[in-house]
Amino acid sequence: MKVNIILLAAGMGKRMYSDTPKVLHKVAGVSMLETVYNQIKKINIEENLITVLSDEVLSSTPEFFKDISYVIQKNRLGTGDACKVAIKSDIFNNSAEYTGVLYADTPLITSETISKIISLLEKSDLIVGSFVAKDQSQPYGRILTNADTKVSENDLFQINGIKEFKDFKSTEIKPTLCNSGIIFAKTEIFTALIDKIQNNNAANEYYLTDIVQLASEHGFDCKSVMINESEILGVNSKVELSIAENQMQQRLRLKHMQNGVTLINPETVFFSQDTEIGKDVIIEPNVFFGTKVKIGNKCTIASFSYLTGVETGESCTIGPFARIRPNTQLNNNIKIGNFVEVKASKIGSGTKVSHLTYVGDADIGENVNFGAGTIICNYDGKNKHKTTIGDNVMIGSNSSLIAPINIENDTYIGAGSVITKTVEKFALAISRTKQENIKDWVKRRIYKNN
Ligand code: UD1
Ligand code: CA
Repeated sequence: MKVNIILLAAGMGKRMYSDTPKVLHKVAGVSMLETVYNQIKKINIEENLITVLSDEVLSSTPEFFKDISYVIQKNRLGTGDACKVAIKSDIFNNSAEYTGVLYADTPLITSETISKIISLLEKSDLIVGSFVAKDQSQPYGRILTNADTKVSENDLFQINGIKEFKDFKSTEIKPTLCNSGIIFAKTEIFTALIDKIQNNNAANEYYLTDIVQLASEHGFDCKSVMINESEILGVNSKVELSIAENQMQQRLRLKHMQNGVTLINPETVFFSQDTEIGKDVIIEPNVFFGTKVKIGNKCTIASFSYLTGVETGESCTIGPFARIRPNTQLNNNIKIGNFVEVKASKIGSGTKVSHLTYVGDADIGENVNFGAGTIICNYDGKNKHKTTIGDNVMIGSNSSLIAPINIENDTYIGAGSVITKTVEKFALAISRTKQENIKDWVKRRIYKNN
């Protein structure tokens, strides 16, 4: 089945009070736009996706749109106008049997729900996803039905139109059934009727939602199906963004636990949408996963750790109080202990970095032991430099390794050393002033006993 999917993402989102376009605000580490896009990609159909953007959205994430087809809506004249821009564009496929519209500001929508609506299309010419909002003061568009229509929880039911919240008079009783924003219909409904949408309404906007009444008047069969309110939360403000974040986190926690991850206190663990976690992993309370984290089997992530851009092997322990930054690769059985920061480094199996250490831009071998307080000095004020450390290296506490530096296999570094030159295999490197003890100094100077 061929389906055009129009993803509306051109709105600026005035109510966000932000310089960032609304759909680029993130939920669990991923922009709302990309979140909805990823769900569309999961659906098993031959879709022709057309994203409707503003110049602001495009110029804020040009990378993302390198491989994604889009059209630009020049003036934000409403959802009906945005769809019209898509329908009139070269990318629109007139011969696709169906066309659907999704809003990029509803990040909780799932591919299952979209698929469900698509699967119902053989039963009606047009289908709108609807729900009864728990909070009826929410300004959702309302679904209009005949007085005798039975609104069914599970089956399709007949509808006549959608009336926007703003267009109800204050004395008018509003239907409780709300528009989710998801509309799928025969492509001919969109191509034939999109030009007929007018803007003589409270917002002076071209409402896409008017297409339902138009279709109904033109003899098309219009129906609605109830969908879960939790999936259609429209984000228009920072408050709603935080609600969406919360619900997404809740979903991600459940997903990981259902996959066998132990979360000791789920409410305090924060994931990104792309976090991947293996089997028999234990995550202690208060852990944050930024994007691009992949944790191998049997690892433990201890409390108060903050991880981004790291891939681990098996049986590693990280934290408590560890910070792992992007482009880090940890092999198996590695220990990253408290107050340790690792950035853009590769660490070999069995290596221990247990306490108070900074590792940056380093390539480290197996079974290396970092003493407490080791610092890799990777930055000279202008450039970052690389450090290479071989296997079986023992670094004494409080050492500074000044990059670029190469520490070969099977070497020792004396505690408190500042290492600036290559340390050759089997060598002990030590660079600190020799200790001198001045006999009876305290007796003479402090206690004044001559
Ligand atoms: C819309 C629906 C409302 C529904 C609600 C569900 C209309 C007229 N109303 O209202 O019935 O209950 O969603 O969340 O459609 N956009 C553009 N170009 C524009 C205007 C909007 O691309 O000119 C995009 C926005 O970026 C957004 C989406 O369309 O992703 C929805 O627009 P928004 O203004 O948020 O509509 P709502 O007022 O929420
Ligand atoms: Ca909205």
